[in-house]
Amino acid sequence: MFLRRERAGDESAIAAVHAAAFLRPDSPNAEPPEVALVADLRASPEWIPALSIVAVVDGAVAGHVVCSRGTIAGTIPVLGLGALGVAPNRQRRHIGTALMHGVIAAADAMDERLIALLGRVAYYERFGFTPSGNLGVIPPHDWYGDNFQARPLSRATGEERGRFEYARAFDKVP
Ligand SMILES: CC(C)(COP(=O)(O)OP(=O)(O)OC[C@H]1O[C@@H](n2cnc3c(N)ncnc32)[C@H](O)[C@@H]1OP(=O)(O)O)[C@@H](O)C(=O)NCCC(=O)NCCS
Repeated sequence: MFLRRERAGDESAIAAVHAAAFLRPDSPNAEPPEVALVADLRASPEWIPALSIVAVVDGAVAGHVVCSRGTIAGTIPVLGLGALGVAPNRQRRHIGTALMHGVIAAADAMDERLIALLGRVAYYERFGFTPSGNLGVIPPHDWYGDNFQARPLSRATGEERGRFEYARAFDKVP
C-alpha cells in the first residue's frame, strides 16, 4: 500500500470507495451524500489539490481522504477534513490510519494552522484531535457536540477561536 495525491482519472474510483464505505444498510439503493460531497468540493474554490490523497493497494484506489478550505470566525483560514473512506473489504488494515497521518503531515508541511472534522472521538483522538470546544473552536452546528474535533498544526497561533465554517459544498450534506 502507498499513498499519493489524487490525479486525473481517479475520480470514479474515489467515488466508488465512498459509495461503498458510507453505504447505509437501511437504504442500500441510496447514494451516500459523501459521494456528491467530494465531487462538489472538487468543483469548488475551496478544493486543495495537494490535500486530496488516495491509498493504493494492488494498483487500485482503496481509500481516500480530503481536506478543503474552511474558516474560523469568518476570516481565519483553516481546514475541514472530509470525507475519509476506506473500501469495506480493505478496512481494519490501517489504511485509514495511514491516510490520516498522511494528510495531517501534508497540511502541516503546507503551513496550515488547524484541521477540524466531524467524527468519533474514539477514532480520531489517536491522531491528536480533541473536541473542538477544548480549543475555543465552535462547531458549525451546536448539536455536533464533542464529535466535532480539531487538531492544531505547527503554524497555529492560538488565535484560531470562534465559529468554524466548512466549504459551502458541506451545506448540502444532511
Ligand atoms: C473509519 C475508517 C476510515 C477507518 O479506516 P480503516 O482503514 O478501517 O481503519 P484502521 O485500520 O486504520 O483502524 C485503526 C484502528 O482504529 C480503530 N477503528 C477503526 N474504525 C473505527 C471506528 N469506526 N470507530 C472507532 N475505532 C475504529 C480500530 O481499533 C483499529 O484498530 P485495530 O487494528 O484494532 O482494528 C473506515 O472504517 C471507513 O471508511 N468507515 C466508513 C466510513 C466512515 O465512517 N468514515 C469516517 C467518517 S468520520
